[in-house]
Amino acid sequence: MAEICRLGVLISGSGTNLENIARKIEEGRLPARIAVVISDREEAYGLVRARKHGLQAVFVDPGSFPDRVSYDRELIRILRENEVDLVVLAGYMRLVSPEFVEAFRNRIMNIHPALLPSFPGTSGVADALAYGVKVTGVTVHFVDEGLDTGPIILQEAVPVLPGDDVESLHQRIHEVEYRLYPEAIRLFCRGRLRVEGRRVAVLEEEESR
Ligand code: GAR
Repeated sequence: MAEICRLGVLISGSGTNLENIARKIEEGRLPARIAVVISDREEAYGLVRARKHGLQAVFVDPGSFPDRVSYDRELIRILRENEVDLVVLAGYMRLVSPEFVEAFRNRIMNIHPALLPSFPGTSGVADALAYGVKVTGVTVHFVDEGLDTGPIILQEAVPVLPGDDVESLHQRIHEVEYRLYPEAIRLFCRGRLRVEGRRVAVLEEEESR
């Protein structure tokens, strides 16, 4: 890995996780650099947030590619060109192709707003609420070929309160995400994550040297 851990952040929407990571880096609390931000949606507000923080931010239009594989090849090219060590999916709502997973095996992280394997997919908060669970949460995991099925790095529970709607619950989930994602990235960048089958071991500082 290069001296400073280089991140490539993929977004589709608002980008508050992206901005939180950018802030932590600016404050010197996360030893990493965001090398490039890529969005699959032109109107994603995360692109505006990224540029506000002086980051290189690009929209890559899925409509300009015949299929998912060729789209993902373009992303792989951009991420490699920017010498990215870790790909960070932050509200990126597309399933990545097996070729993409292989290109960055165990170097792609995703954050999901539920306790996986419960409520995978793009509406984890609403699905948990509709199901009536009393506890949901946040999962950070490595990405494999499945939908939200990769080895779990960190998880934290969030209680569902009696008056909750999707917005209030998502807001409390976001607060946990803003702590958990930088922590997982920090562990990766310090070489403290080891994937052992489905399990991810978090090594002590001295074990990682
Ligand atoms: C986050 O809550 C993230 O967990 C979720 O999208 C939100 C993005 O918010 N991701 C998924 O649902 C992935 N399936 P943000 O754009 O403000 O960071």
